Amino acid sequence: MSRKHGSVSVVLGGQWGDEGKGKVVDYLAAKHDVVVRFQGGANAGHTIRAEGQEYIFHLIPSGILLEGKDCLLGGGLVVDPLTLTEEIQALKKRGISVEGRLFMSDVAHLIMPYHRLIDRLQEESKKGKSIGTTGRGIGPAYADKINRTGLRAELFKLDDERFKRVIIEKTIEKNRLIDSLYSGEPVSPNDLVDKLMAIKPIMGQIVIDAHSFLHDAVDGGKSVLLEGAQGTLLDIDHGTYPFVTSSNPSIGGAISGSGLSPRDCGDVIGIFKAYCTRVGNGPFPTEELEDVGEELRQRGAEFGATTGRPRRCGWLDLVAARYSIRLNGINKIALTKFDILSGMKTLKVCTGYRIGDVEVPRFPRDAATLERVEPVYEEFEGWEEDLSEVRDVKFLPAAARTYFDFVEKGLGVPIAWLGVGPDRKQTLNL
Ligand code: GDP
Ligand code: IMO
Ligand code: MG
Repeated sequence: MSRKHGSVSVVLGGQWGDEGKGKVVDYLAAKHDVVVRFQGGANAGHTIRAEGQEYIFHLIPSGILLEGKDCLLGGGLVVDPLTLTEEIQALKKRGISVEGRLFMSDVAHLIMPYHRLIDRLQEESKKGKSIGTTGRGIGPAYADKINRTGLRAELFKLDDERFKRVIIEKTIEKNRLIDSLYSGEPVSPNDLVDKLMAIKPIMGQIVIDAHSFLHDAVDGGKSVLLEGAQGTLLDIDHGTYPFVTSSNPSIGGAISGSGLSPRDCGDVIGIFKAYCTRVGNGPFPTEELEDVGEELRQRGAEFGATTGRPRRCGWLDLVAARYSIRLNGINKIALTKFDILSGMKTLKVCTGYRIGDVEVPRFPRDAATLERVEPVYEEFEGWEEDLSEVRDVKFLPAAARTYFDFVEKGLGVPIAWLGVGPDRKQTLNL
């Protein structure tokens, strides 16, 4: 069969993460054959609610709840194999088998306990200037990858003796570094070998030649959904550096992290919350520090799915959103958590930035400038009606419709899906 271009759809976080990617991927997976996570690691927390159950995935792609869908942890990931095993076992306990349909790329990098330790020690050493990482070892694991000293998932294919030798040598090397740089406690190489040997058979089974797997799938006419983690504004290159993660949650990461071609991609779907949140430190122009922020946090249950930290909350920022849309070539939008705005007395949408009297024409990427901008707002009347049962935009209250239309026009891209609740059923297809 000749290759059909455009059979790959990409789902990206448009803001600072936690936009509701998991829920949207679960929804869209029904129309795809393969779901691929392409970057990040267990710093992600993707929540899905379906049939009265809630699932939070840190590594496993959000398509796994749909029977018959293949799920791949792509080469762009940094995977903690111990966390992955826990996640697989937790799913099994809930009656969901991943056997024969969950795979991991041979070139994905591995996160080891020493990466988590270094993550924590680095954060502590930054004192007041910490990034507020999730502590999952993400930065140190990507640093090893770029430094060409990392371990890849293909390691699990080695025979036991060679496998043990590599782990022990690497751990000893890292312990030396931990001691000299941070005077930190060493990681026990033997304990680590024991833990990894216990999961080696499971990991050995799921590690595959992902290049052949994915390209054969596309050649064979299958459709693929690429699932991003984090969000564009946390991108290592295009985000609010240094307050970012260590991967590319934007479109480039989808290509390098899956190993597919840009010519395979059709829709680039941007997920945006109807307001804004951020976890960890760094600039956030529309943040509301007082009552409004607290109200959004409580209404939206804005507490981290990975670390449980309260998320910083504020208004929708169209300047940042348009930056994200342009950067990624987003052609469809899923606007999530629209229902959360019910009951807010007035709503604001940021349409521009200023520093003093001077207009800032576009999204400044450097954290220092972004820290100084003041948002320019358009204000809207709120609405009281509960939206959780609405299944068609024509039934939205007038004030909600006004807000929706303004946001869609401001984004400049059609809103194709609207979220009115956490459940799989609470997504409107527009
Ligand atoms: P992700 O990291 O982008 O997958 O998002 P998270 O799962 O970290 O956070 C999104 C949260 O909002 C989760 O608790 C979801 O269940 C919830 N959620 C997603 N979409 C909606 C929606 O449209 N309405 C409401 N009320 N909750 C939603
Ligand atoms: P999902 O996929 C929100 C943030 C951290 C911190 C910064 C760097 O659920 O949207 P890291 O541990 O990656 O080195 O931390 O990035 N961060 C996230 N914020 N959602 C996420 O993932 C995040 N993953 C990392 O809070 O500010
Ligand atoms: Mg999340």
